[in-house]
Amino acid sequence: MKYHLITYGCQMNKNDSERISSFFDKNNLTESEEADADIIVFNACSIRQSSIDRMTAKIKKIKEQSKDKIIILTGCLLKKDIKKLENFCDYILKSEELPSWNLPFLKKEKIDYFEIIPKRRDTAGYISIMKGCNNFCSYCVVPYTKGREFSRPAKDIIEEVKEAVFCGKKEIWILGQNVNSYNGGISFADLLVEIDKIKGDFWVRFTSSHPKDFSFDIAKAIKNCKKITKYLNLPLQSGDDEILKKMNRPYNAEQYSKLVANIREIVPDIALSTDIIVGFPGETEHHFHNTVKMFNEIDFDMAYIAKYSPRHETKSFAEKETVSEEEKKRRERVLTEILTEKNLIKNRLYLKNIVKVLVMGINKKGYLFGKTEGYKDVIFPGSEKKINSFANIKITKCSKWGLEGKKIIQK
Ligand code: SAH
Ligand code: SF4
Ligand code: F3S
Repeated sequence: MKYHLITYGCQMNKNDSERISSFFDKNNLTESEEADADIIVFNACSIRQSSIDRMTAKIKKIKEQSKDKIIILTGCLLKKDIKKLENFCDYILKSEELPSWNLPFLKKEKIDYFEIIPKRRDTAGYISIMKGCNNFCSYCVVPYTKGREFSRPAKDIIEEVKEAVFCGKKEIWILGQNVNSYNGGISFADLLVEIDKIKGDFWVRFTSSHPKDFSFDIAKAIKNCKKITKYLNLPLQSGDDEILKKMNRPYNAEQYSKLVANIREIVPDIALSTDIIVGFPGETEHHFHNTVKMFNEIDFDMAYIAKYSPRHETKSFAEKETVSEEEKKRRERVLTEILTEKNLIKNRLYLKNIVKVLVMGINKKGYLFGKTEGYKDVIFPGSEKKINSFANIKITKCSKWGLEGKKIIQK
């Protein structure tokens, strides 16, 4: 039998799909294109309604067009959506119970979920070091869909990183909803130090970091460990103290700014990205202005800006929405413009410089593309053979969106 996987959501979900795929292969199932597949596995994300809507439409379409395809639904799901989708799916299963999924074409195994070695097919090697979340930010589904926080033992993680590096992965992503609170025998900072000792030529990135748990030991590890990239995603969510409180984010704007100043003192050239939600219930023009102010002051290198989406089961679902879709879009635009203008200024500083780039693929126009240590996009001409290796690129052009290089200079 043949199967096809459709994955929504974050890198942790991608990693879950790699485990599903590996487990299916072991049971003599073959991965295929959607059209040829007998089994379609949907790995869902519930963070925003739009993702669930897109998936629901796709499931219904498949069920209409080809009635005999087996549809399996897994991933992050809310009770209400499970109820709605029950009639369209043949099986709805929990991803962490994969070894004991009760399916006629799978043999159950008495092993732990994390013992399944992921089938790595992305250029990045994803390593989930924990699951779940204990923070209950008032807008967020993760504590409901993924349960409470649990950290894997450090030695298992080290082994898995070694395995990914051995497979040739040059970019290792250490994943968890709040990696700073990792507690698998050693601290997160010490885990980074241990990973840095692994032999090989690779970069390490990690996400996500909760500001309340970011310790200076982590900043010191970033500074001292050569393989840990000087890139940090530190979600702010809002620059207004009242909104932060309503979001159940236990820090205020001033504490966040101080934290960033301290991190920059330890690692001056760190690239900083953030997550923002615009249009949270009750977010007035005044509240939003405080986020804009933070945006100007902190000078982020990158930001993932999301329009608030009310989610069942979460605390803020009960709050009446006060910001229209149009206004959410406008607020998103305002922040994006500040970001891109600042980026143009920063990107100009790269002109004529030589930067180290991890080559990740080739675009439709035949240019190679990759990322710098600080996660900036770079494109340049070159041979496909360079994919998945490091290259030194001389930057000749820049735009709001990224950098362009002309030739690869031999190392
Ligand atoms: N654990 C991470 C983020 C997980 S979700 C953290 O603590 O930051 C990724 C991002 O999705 C969040 O940072 C937030 O910006 C966004 N998000 C989460 N719930 C959302 C919602 N209900 N509406 C809009 N964006 C949301
Ligand atoms: Fe969601 Fe907050 Fe946990 Fe992040 S820290 S996963 S935003 S509840
Ligand atoms: Fe990730 Fe979405 Fe689940 S962001 S943890 S797949 S709800």
